[in-house]
Amino acid sequence: MTDQQTTHDALEDPRNADIKVYVNGALLHRDEATVSVYDSGFMLGDGIWEGLRLYDGVWAFFDEHMDRFFDSCKAVSLEVGMDRQGIFDALEATRAANGMQTDVHCRLMLTRGVKVRPFQHPALSESGPTLVIIMEHSKPVDRLHSAGIRLATVPQVRGLPMSQDAKLNSHSKLNCVIACLQAEQAGADEALMLDPHGFVNTTNACNFFIVRRGEVWTSTGDYCMNGVTRQKVIDLCRSDGIRVLEKNYSLYEAYGAEEAFLTGTFGAQTPVASIDGKALGDGSRPMTARIQDLYKAHVAAYVAENRA
Ligand SMILES: Cc1ncc(COP(=O)(O)O)c(C=O)c1O
Repeated sequence: MTDQQTTHDALEDPRNADIKVYVNGALLHRDEATVSVYDSGFMLGDGIWEGLRLYDGVWAFFDEHMDRFFDSCKAVSLEVGMDRQGIFDALEATRAANGMQTDVHCRLMLTRGVKVRPFQHPALSESGPTLVIIMEHSKPVDRLHSAGIRLATVPQVRGLPMSQDAKLNSHSKLNCVIACLQAEQAGADEALMLDPHGFVNTTNACNFFIVRRGEVWTSTGDYCMNGVTRQKVIDLCRSDGIRVLEKNYSLYEAYGAEEAFLTGTFGAQTPVASIDGKALGDGSRPMTARIQDLYKAHVAAYVAENRA
């Protein structure tokens, strides 16, 4: 038994043992849901994915997720093979096959498809893309919110946009996985990654915010995922009169923050307990709680507006 936790820890749910997974239009029991060893996603990490969450029968912020998904696919010349209505219908078919309504997390994955030979060239994927949708019953564990996450800064950085743009939600997460391993080896739960200039940037799986002297700060956004939740938090702060800044700042300012939190579709806003073993503030988290409440209310309003 270890006290290791991750930002994506969910309550055990026995229903997940029998979920149906969408594989190119077929809905298959998870044990039978497979892709070819020649699939470019398996072979090269050549694919784009999106994480979405279902609240009371509504896919939260579907348009924002699809904007990012289609932009990413276009950027890597990956033909989706359907429009966003087609993706929506595939999500709904998977949801119906699983009888799911709320507290559901979805990983939508599109790869360049099966290759005719085991080499890199994209043209070797001749038969069209592979679309897989995994949906699980998923509720973040309470302790993520009570105890908070322990971060460690790591040597691995998120690189310059002209190497592999951090905005691409690519199947290959090796950059992030290496960072996560480094954090684990340092005895923390998740990695706090710097940008190529040494400014505080992002974690390996979520966006990162600090609270200093009543202001909310996050990185410029140049070297991290353009998170849907990140943007929601920025917009909610602005509309609620909280001063929010996208700026360069260093570990000096992060260590001295009163509060810090991560953002992501799965966990919404997850508090940070410590960075490199230094506890943040006095442990009370009034700004994080205020933003969590704003976000909950925003999701509820979105759901009410979009319920069929
Ligand atoms: C590296 C990374 N950062 C941040 C996020 C959070 O993005 P979002 O708020 O859209 O879930 C993700 C989610 O895919 C991610 O992979």
